Amino acid sequence: MPRVTIDGLDLDAERGDTLLDAARHLGIEVPTLCHMEGLTPWGGCRLCIVEVGAGTRSRLVTSCTYPVEEGLKVRTNSKWVIKTRRMVIELMLGACSGSKELQDLAAKYRMEEMRFKPRHDDCILCGRCVRMCDEQMTGSAIGFLGRGQSLTINTPFDKPSAACRRCGGCMYVCPICTLRCQGPDAPTEVCGRCGSMAPTCSDVFEDYTCYMGAAGDCGTCVREEKKTAASLFCAPEPAKVTVGGK
Ligand code: SF4
Ligand code: SF4
Ligand code: FES
Repeated sequence: MPRVTIDGLDLDAERGDTLLDAARHLGIEVPTLCHMEGLTPWGGCRLCIVEVGAGTRSRLVTSCTYPVEEGLKVRTNSKWVIKTRRMVIELMLGACSGSKELQDLAAKYRMEEMRFKPRHDDCILCGRCVRMCDEQMTGSAIGFLGRGQSLTINTPFDKPSAACRRCGGCMYVCPICTLRCQGPDAPTEVCGRCGSMAPTCSDVFEDYTCYMGAAGDCGTCVREEKKTAASLFCAPEPAKVTVGGK
């Protein structure tokens, strides 16, 4: 059992585990995007990077593909890691600014600026759909096509594929095909509304009942605010940042 130290915590990890497995075993959160339980790790998006080693010999690796090694020291939230992770999120959000998954990630990492002009692509090439089709749906109907800037996900020769059973598995796992983010002006802003919403109604009801609406939609928190201290109304203003100087 290789012993690794993650964020100062020692763990006797299972041989063959990845650093992501080990971190999760310790309850340490590492964000992932191309990685998905049930699919082969791919290491494409680089969101799950962690810092291994120490001093000038340290380096960044993708935790979802890097195996545990005896004596390895890992930092999941160093300045270097966070800075790089934010850059990765910013690049992906620039490509697909309407993705709720990416908007939430950006809000979580307190991104206040998107320096890249939004491109509104339909894909961030995370490869989840390809692996889903191949490994879970045994379809192998889609794959990466082209290279470099023209790399896309498509059927062979861009022709309708007889192998596709229209099961919808590929769309189910796609972080871009999900419901478009309905932020205040999603194409140009880092919204953060969902990420910053606080469950005000859970102070009143047994459960948190407001999932997507802006604070005040159901009226509970607004009504309660009138009755109680202003601190009950705890949904902060979303980060509102313009892009490209607009
Ligand atoms: S809908 Fe077609 S391409 Fe998508 S996972 Fe199913 S078989 Fe594969
Ligand atoms: S279509 Fe969706 S799941 Fe497939 S690679 Fe693009 S973003 Fe990922
Ligand atoms: S989640 Fe590890 S590289 Fe994408």
